[in-house]
Amino acid sequence: MSGVPQSHIAVEQWQGQPRVPLATLPTPLEKGPELTGGSRLWVKRDDLTGLGMGGNKVRKLEFLCGAAIKAGADCLITVGAGQSNHCRMTAAAGAVLGLETHLVLAGDRPHVMQGNQLLSQRFGAEQHFTGAGPAEWGMLEIARENLTDELTHQGLHPYSIPIGGSTAVGALGYIAAYREIVEQCLVLGISPSTIVCTSSSGGTHAGLVAGRAWLRALGTYEVLPRLLAIGVAKGVIAGFPSVRELATEALALAGLPGEVADDDIEVDGRWLGPDYAIPTEASQKASAWAAHAGAWVLDDVYTAKGMAGVLGNADDGRWISNDDVIFIHTGGQPEVFVRHD
Ligand SMILES: Cc1ncc(COP(=O)(O)O)c(C=O)c1O
Repeated sequence: MSGVPQSHIAVEQWQGQPRVPLATLPTPLEKGPELTGGSRLWVKRDDLTGLGMGGNKVRKLEFLCGAAIKAGADCLITVGAGQSNHCRMTAAAGAVLGLETHLVLAGDRPHVMQGNQLLSQRFGAEQHFTGAGPAEWGMLEIARENLTDELTHQGLHPYSIPIGGSTAVGALGYIAAYREIVEQCLVLGISPSTIVCTSSSGGTHAGLVAGRAWLRALGTYEVLPRLLAIGVAKGVIAGFPSVRELATEALALAGLPGEVADDDIEVDGRWLGPDYAIPTEASQKASAWAAHAGAWVLDDVYTAKGMAGVLGNADDGRWISNDDVIFIHTGGQPEVFVRHD
């Protein structure tokens, strides 16, 4: 598929930025059980954002695809781990927007496509396997840049999206999501102290931090839960990318008021284990716990470690009774069906 993109979906605007409505919003905010110490868990179901089996990346892709269409792009390129949810959702966005989509992936072409790769293939994306290791992000980014140059020389107009869609444009999706959560809490009559998210390329966390800084500057909401990110990749735990810089850049891009301070940013790296995508005892326990507690299906790479962080922090006594804590379920379910022989 190439040539003029065709879509039944019109580009809208959010704070002056082009946004393509791809997600089913707002996502539910579900009441969960009590955690150790008596606090109450709530689960923000961003696994139910809809497009191409859902997940957090659709919120970013609404803005990234808006920017792509505004720039006159006729194809999308992005990059990720072999079982990247972000790549699968970019493929889904490309399908509905009529944009040819190329995915630069870690690992080798498998004999049988599974999980996210199977879905990306179904959405019509071309998958370029690089042979890179699962966390060789630098090598993958170079491969994405090379492919972008190659397709440009062929006469295409690619919109090339860095790993995880974690640019200032992508982070806009989670600025809007932060306000969505605060509004839902008002309706439910709850005042959570904390929103917990799983962080890998940092864009989800950065958008949420920026959203909080924005609403703090507006001064119209009494309760603004602080953010706790559970790091599931070594880079984000070490401070790459800088969540503060990304959040500040996103606010500036949308012309929103707000200052991001260093102590707005908290990344808890204790739940990563040996490395990205390697399950831990705590993540496996968290996955089993979530399946029983709320029939929440967590994936091994991201959300199981995120939930391990929620349960672990509750066990450490971080939250007191009567406190409400929100965990954002960022998706990742296709990985559950991948056989790791
Ligand atoms: C299911 C899931 N949760 C969380 C994340 C982390 O989001 P971010 O890369 O914005 O930090 C990802 C990223 O790929 C993801 O796929």
